Amino acid sequence: MTSDPRYITTPLYYVNAKPHLGHAYATLLADTVSRFERQRGHRTRFLTGTDEHGEKIQTKAKEEGKSPLEFATANAKLFEAAWQAMGLTPDIFYRTTQASHVKLVQAALQQLKDRGEIYFAEYEGKYCVGCERFRTDQEWDAEGLCPDHRTPPVVRKEANYWFKMGAYQQRLLDFYRSNPDVIRPASYLNEVLGFLAQPLEDLCISRPTTRLEWGIPLPFDDKYVTYVWFDALLNYPGGLGYEGKPVGQNPGFDEKLWAEATHFIGKDILKTHAIYWPTMLMALGLPVFRHLNVSGYILMNSLKMSKSLGNIVEPVTMSETFGVDSLRFFLLREVPYGGDANFAWEAFVNRLNAELANGIGNLTSRSLTIAVKSLGGKVPAKAARGDAEAALLKQVHALPESFAKEFEAGRYHIALTQFGECVRACDLYVNDNKPWALAKDPAQTERLGAVIGTLIDALWTLSVVADSVLPNGMGRLRVALGEASPEVPAWSRATELRPEGSALGEVPRLFPRFEIPKEPA
Ligand code: MSP
Repeated sequence: MTSDPRYITTPLYYVNAKPHLGHAYATLLADTVSRFERQRGHRTRFLTGTDEHGEKIQTKAKEEGKSPLEFATANAKLFEAAWQAMGLTPDIFYRTTQASHVKLVQAALQQLKDRGEIYFAEYEGKYCVGCERFRTDQEWDAEGLCPDHRTPPVVRKEANYWFKMGAYQQRLLDFYRSNPDVIRPASYLNEVLGFLAQPLEDLCISRPTTRLEWGIPLPFDDKYVTYVWFDALLNYPGGLGYEGKPVGQNPGFDEKLWAEATHFIGKDILKTHAIYWPTMLMALGLPVFRHLNVSGYILMNSLKMSKSLGNIVEPVTMSETFGVDSLRFFLLREVPYGGDANFAWEAFVNRLNAELANGIGNLTSRSLTIAVKSLGGKVPAKAARGDAEAALLKQVHALPESFAKEFEAGRYHIALTQFGECVRACDLYVNDNKPWALAKDPAQTERLGAVIGTLIDALWTLSVVADSVLPNGMGRLRVALGEASPEVPAWSRATELRPEGSALGEVPRLFPRFEIPKEPA
């Protein structure tokens, strides 16, 4: 186990919608990266959960004739159940309605109030109800509408509590300038520097209970509840035992893990995470996250997949039909991280058929079927290997290092392209060496052993390297290679050679071929 731990988080999902592929994307990614980091020997914690306060939830609950908590609980369970059904393994499922979170938010607010970071003032401004925030004069489009909701501002005059966010502008700029790799991909850093080129205003952190009741009451004024973003962002250290108390007074807080926090978010919540959140952390005396990884949108018919547009794909049904490995593989392989990607059934099915069924799946079955039929189902001797075998293994054994480098940099699609190139190199080697012909000639048994044995060693490497993306398939592959269980081997074992004479398992059919489904109406 290496010394530096990893803390990986998804956004907390609003419980006014049911989980769709857009939500599943962030969760699948964070799950994959957690598996990868764990396999690399890092102590890893992975948090996901639900964001349950605010006006949207209050309104939705009312529409359904439920109390906000009843409504939020039912939908939070849907998210938890969806991730479970998909075999995703978060260590922490965090809900902003849990008692410990309410206490933490109130303690943090009290702390900031005591230190003079929060003040009370009347303000008149242009409010967007959809965003649930005041937008600055620059944040309305040329027609004066909210660019995200296409709605006009509501002028609101209200007395509220404010966090002195503006005071942190220079510190925040200095932070990003001296840590340019915190926000990834780098194009999003430019966007953030763009925000910071404008004067940074203070942040309104309360809502009067006359307008919104469903929130965490301010500890110093019960006529107000906490602004939902100020509440929700605190989940991240909350998942590690932070209690909102001054530095040094949070005995259960895993500060080592916090220092290594990596947040996965979508680009629509960049401002709240790259501006609000680090200034809150600075004010609370906590270290700023290590990385903020920003994804684009999954689109369907060129529009952001979302419940309100009705263009959603349901991730649980999809993983039941195609397998979670396929879904994970497709999203990571197809989408250059940070960019938008259109979801189309044809591209999805073609990718799975080409790279999983006809790729690693077919390579596995053709290599192992010959091993079972013609070599007694055992790992053959390695002595008869020559230059072609050495060259193939050299290429495959270089994969763990380059794959890890790309994965760590967030270039998942490149890492998986390299994986695919190694599979193709093995396929070419099979075509060149024609093991099916060697198997027919008893004088060639030794040569056949050299060829199949090399493929078995290559398959082992591929199964270790791709485990975080294809955990089910690669686990089954290793059992076929003779492992007693699908347990994940440490990354350092990726270039081990399979022991001569050891028994192989049954030949698996790893990835089936699929037909392109008719688009759901
Ligand atoms: N509750 C806030 C986050 C608070 S974090 C302290 C929120 N919730 S959300 O449910 O609306 O969105 C959660 C995440 O899902 C966001 O990162 C958002 O970008 C992502 N996605 C929702 N639809 C998406 C797509 N169609 N494609 C990709 N991701 C999208 O914002």
